[in-house]
Amino acid sequence: MTVDLVVTNGTVVTPAGRSPDTGVAVDDGTIVAVGRTDNLPAADRTVDAEGNVVVPGIVDCHIHNREPGLEYKEDWESATRAAAAGGVTTVVGMPNTDPIIDRPDHLECKFERGEASAHVDFQSYVVVTSENLDLIPALDEAGALGYKIFLGSTVGDVPPPSDGEILEAMERIRETGKRLGFHEENGEIVDFYTEQFQAEGRNEPIDFAHSRPVIAEREAVERMITFAAETGVKIHMYHVSSGDAAEAVARGKERDVAVTAETCPHYLWFTEDVLREKGNVARIQPPIRDAGQQARLWTSLQTGAIDCIATDHAPHTAEEKLVDDPFGNTWDAISGFVGLETEIPALLTFVDEGRLTLEEWVHHHATRPAEVWDMYPKKGSLQVGTDADITIVDPDRTWTLEDATTLHSKSCVTPFEGETFTGKAVTTIVRGEVVYEDGKVVGESGYGTRVDV
Ligand code: DOR
Ligand code: ZN
Repeated sequence: MTVDLVVTNGTVVTPAGRSPDTGVAVDDGTIVAVGRTDNLPAADRTVDAEGNVVVPGIVDCHIHNREPGLEYKEDWESATRAAAAGGVTTVVGMPNTDPIIDRPDHLECKFERGEASAHVDFQSYVVVTSENLDLIPALDEAGALGYKIFLGSTVGDVPPPSDGEILEAMERIRETGKRLGFHEENGEIVDFYTEQFQAEGRNEPIDFAHSRPVIAEREAVERMITFAAETGVKIHMYHVSSGDAAEAVARGKERDVAVTAETCPHYLWFTEDVLREKGNVARIQPPIRDAGQQARLWTSLQTGAIDCIATDHAPHTAEEKLVDDPFGNTWDAISGFVGLETEIPALLTFVDEGRLTLEEWVHHHATRPAEVWDMYPKKGSLQVGTDADITIVDPDRTWTLEDATTLHSKSCVTPFEGETFTGKAVTTIVRGEVVYEDGKVVGESGYGTRVDV
């Protein structure tokens, strides 16, 4: 038998372990064998992994692709081009677009645009506000991956529902069987300190970070866990930034609440000092925290309170990020930065430093996100019969992101500019098609497809 493609001479790594001199055989977009290179079938195409590490395609369940409506920052094509170049085979888009994704027709529009232009596979969340509680079943039927609620004001100014409306939304979402994720910052606390700091003329980037204190995040986590315990809905905490919030998630898990959580590379890599060093480029919400919070966040990742790694890839233009005046008035800057092409390098650098094993990296960055969002084992595994999404990484390549404008997004601002990594994605394969190799995106726009759930 001759198959379409084999990946040979790799070290295949899954959460269960690693095997040298192995590879993967693919036919018709599906994995047909995983095993020793010598035992793999003949193939029309061979990708020689050259001793590099072969893992299930990386799944990033938190990106802002900005389409529809904000294409001047990013669109499906550019976001998924960056994903392919970054070794990411599945992305999930956030609903704070223009219009917001709060109705089935908006979701359908977002899916259609993705089908037309994406390089890798994709999905989308829908947002729940005071206005659309009655649409929760229809949004499920329209194929949303899950639901999101913004608990405080954030980019896009999606108004938070009241606590009563959140309880009602939880009852209805539980009936769909899908998961509800949160931007978990208590908006009243954040708004209070934002106004106070502005009145006092505290305008530095570090003041921005301190205007959104850890208690705002921790309180939101604890309140939503309390609500989920009452209603039985599955919940998820996006972008957990602090040890306090991560430990609150751990307490929820101990109480058998169905709560999962993610953190992002920037919270693990930088401390709040980056706001003093790089200014508003590093402005993001929730903000990057101090070293003590970061140390406890790391412990929570290692002990399993944090399930997933995701980027919160949030492109904004250089003007919006005040790139020409990085220490300009922070209240004039916008929050968020890109991450799709630095997430694997950051995580592999942590592996190189001995803070995670390769197996733990694959668990947090491919398998667990797919499980949390009900895409496993189709995504996030190398099981026979599943989608042949494969990421090949060189864990030893040391490189520096000298110039962020070399990234593939439309907007390239990131505090990772100037950082040195050990590790890089070298080849990205989506359903058996090579979409990135030799430093180039070679896949076609429109090849990517929606993940059915
Ligand atoms: O910093 C952020 N940027 N945090 C968010 O929650 C939203 C994101 C964006 O959309 O730019
Ligand atoms: Zn986000």
